[in-house]
Amino acid sequence: MKTFTPLSLLTVALAGLGDAAAVSTNTLTRRSDFCDQWGSVTKGNYIVYNNLWGQSADPSGHQCTGVDSLNGNTIAWHTSFGWTGAKYSVKSFANIALKFTAKTLKDVKSINSTWKWSYSNTNIVADVSYDMFLKSNPSASSSEYEIMVWLAALDGAGPISSTGAPIATTTINGVTWKLYKGPNGSMTVYSFVAESPVTDFSGDLKKFFTYLIDHQGLNSNLYLVDVQAGTEPFTGSAKLTTTAYSAVVA
Ligand SMILES: *[C@@H]1O[C@H](CO)[C@@H](O)[C@H](O)[C@H]1NC(C)=O
Ligand SMILES: *[C@@H]1O[C@H](CO)[C@@H](O)[C@H](O)[C@H]1NC(C)=O
Repeated sequence: MKTFTPLSLLTVALAGLGDAAAVSTNTLTRRSDFCDQWGSVTKGNYIVYNNLWGQSADPSGHQCTGVDSLNGNTIAWHTSFGWTGAKYSVKSFANIALKFTAKTLKDVKSINSTWKWSYSNTNIVADVSYDMFLKSNPSASSSEYEIMVWLAALDGAGPISSTGAPIATTTINGVTWKLYKGPNGSMTVYSFVAESPVTDFSGDLKKFFTYLIDHQGLNSNLYLVDVQAGTEPFTGSAKLTTTAYSAVVA
């Protein structure tokens, strides 16, 4: 159980600092936004990446990302972008990655996570999702499986799918998800897509893997190597604000 709310603590802390300190905090926040292709910042157990991997589809587009606060294991961060061009090609994936030691799914007890987010407008094509990767050999360069959990599919954004249709519907962590499957290069991608946006998620991500082990024959000897969470915009201009995010692999 969570026993504190980071935002109210932050407000109390800032209130005690006086105006001058509050102004310089804001200035630091603005200055620390980063806009370059591989820009990143490390805070606690997290690395926040700007990641403009699809920007060649819109060289005139832009995206900048920054971290707002870290309280205990709960981090706040944001990203702003403007993308046009090919409506169905992903331009970027601003995301937060967890630092942890890879271990096999059968040795993962839980991946507790909370994620509270909002978009400044939803007139964009984008997803808001967890993105996790599995390898049979943790030191191999490429992953065999990508497991996505889409908390939102905005304005027609759709997951990778061989058939265009979900292969199953299931309820996990109190939310009903449609499951899609398809290839991304040599990787197999499973995507759990929420029926309507979940802007305040709290649950155990291990349960998605347990479902795939029980119902899709996923091998529990695969290593969990990456736990990321972020947004993949296809097109539009908006700001995603994450007011509270946490994740722990246990
Ligand atoms: C994960 O969450 C569950 C349910 O709230 C809790 O029982 C468990 O102790 C948590 N695990 C860790 C490692 O915090
Ligand atoms: C496809 O795979 C690449 C790595 O090869 C990864 O960076 C990207 O996020 C994946 N795309 C989707 C939509 O899963």
